[in-house]
Amino acid sequence: MNTKQTTSGQQPISVAVIGAGMAGRTHANAYCQASTVFGLDLPPIRLHTIADIHLPAAEDAAKRYGYENATADWRQVIDDPEIDAVSIVVGNALHRPIAEAALAAGKHVLCEKPLSDTIADARAMAELEKTTDLVTAVGYCYRRNPGIAALIDTVQHGRIGKVAQITAEYLCDYGADPLVPMSWRYQGPQGSGALGDLGVHLLDTLEQIAGRIIRVGGASFANTVTERPVATANVAGGRGVTGSDDAPKEPVENEDTAVFTADFASGARGMISTSRVAFGLANGLKISVAGPSGRAGFDMAQPAAFWMHDPQPEYGTNGPRNILVGPKHRYVTAGSAMDFEGVGFSQVDQFIFQNRAFLEQIVAQRTGEPFPNALPTCPTFADGVHTMLVLDAVARSAAAGGTTVEVEQN
Ligand SMILES: NC(=O)c1ccc[n+]([C@@H]2O[C@H](COP(=O)([O-])OP(=O)(O)OC[C@H]3O[C@@H](n4cnc5c(N)ncnc54)[C@H](O)[C@@H]3O)[C@@H](O)[C@H]2O)c1
Repeated sequence: MNTKQTTSGQQPISVAVIGAGMAGRTHANAYCQASTVFGLDLPPIRLHTIADIHLPAAEDAAKRYGYENATADWRQVIDDPEIDAVSIVVGNALHRPIAEAALAAGKHVLCEKPLSDTIADARAMAELEKTTDLVTAVGYCYRRNPGIAALIDTVQHGRIGKVAQITAEYLCDYGADPLVPMSWRYQGPQGSGALGDLGVHLLDTLEQIAGRIIRVGGASFANTVTERPVATANVAGGRGVTGSDDAPKEPVENEDTAVFTADFASGARGMISTSRVAFGLANGLKISVAGPSGRAGFDMAQPAAFWMHDPQPEYGTNGPRNILVGPKHRYVTAGSAMDFEGVGFSQVDQFIFQNRAFLEQIVAQRTGEPFPNALPTCPTFADGVHTMLVLDAVARSAAAGGTTVEVEQN
């Protein structure tokens, strides 16, 4: 634990990021920005180390985001007593060993989603969580998108009536090119492909809107690209990386596309689809929620707004309207250097808000006092297990030809 005191008397929080791929760089940036948003009461954040097995990636991110050190060995982060908190931002199979080592070394852990690649590993992490006072968090960041948060609040405040039906899709194209080389995303059991990578975000977000999912059905997976070139270099991110057509190929193990229905305990019904081979959609997340007295939704392609349709104003002039997200909505006031309507908030902002919330939780854990004006706390490892149990139910439904499957509760 870092015991150095600043002149303001606040003990710094010293952070490290393990993994410097697409999301690792976003965590690195998020810690950099965490003190620039909301209140001024975070202690100084010491940007200590970036670790990536591909050292040039670690060095690049360290230089870009102002971290003091870069290493190719994540165990150096674990062994460094100066580091207080760690983001785990590598392929899912590595989450458990790194989280266990970090917690054993007394470090707070923010682990990316899904919590792990297997339920057994995720459950072991949640068991460990029960035994520690350290902060343990999982990275479901979409709930912090100001437009999605506004949608959640609109529905929660009853503006569309009791939620009846949700349609949600998360369609991406990062796997559309069959020459994108093999990487961890294409390896693992059925359910760990597009569903585990993208669908998991929808599940967390939809449960914020309509409560727990208790049953799934009608699931069907498709695998469009069945083999990929063996990677000959670091393929972090994958997007825009093309392998050679005459390179040896490896089989893709998990699904490119997943569709299914979800029953919520609240009575709402959902239709959900996700894909990583949807041409032209780099990040196509859309949610539409219908109730008896209104509809509302969000489209990641228009992140400055959410939409709403209700009986206002009078018949003849009403209709769906876009509502610009602004200071009257959560996360906006002081959430950006430009905290007003029409600016738009991105996925990068979601990570800033998430990592700030994680740091606030660390301060609260240290002081034993609630953090003033705290952001909503991060989901826990136990929450991460729940979402994985929904994924598991969807995979079992797909394996059984779309049969209805009850979600195991943890
Ligand atoms: N919350 C989000 O919006 C979001 C977005 C993307 C990814 N993710 C999650 O973040 C994690 C990483 O995804 P990504 O897209 O950044 O993957 P990526 O493939 O872009 O990057 C992974 C990085 O891990 C490094 N790595 C591999 N083995 C390592 C090891 N043993 N030690 C240190 N580094 C190692 C690789 O060199 C690579 O740079 C995954 O769990 C993913 O699901 C979350």
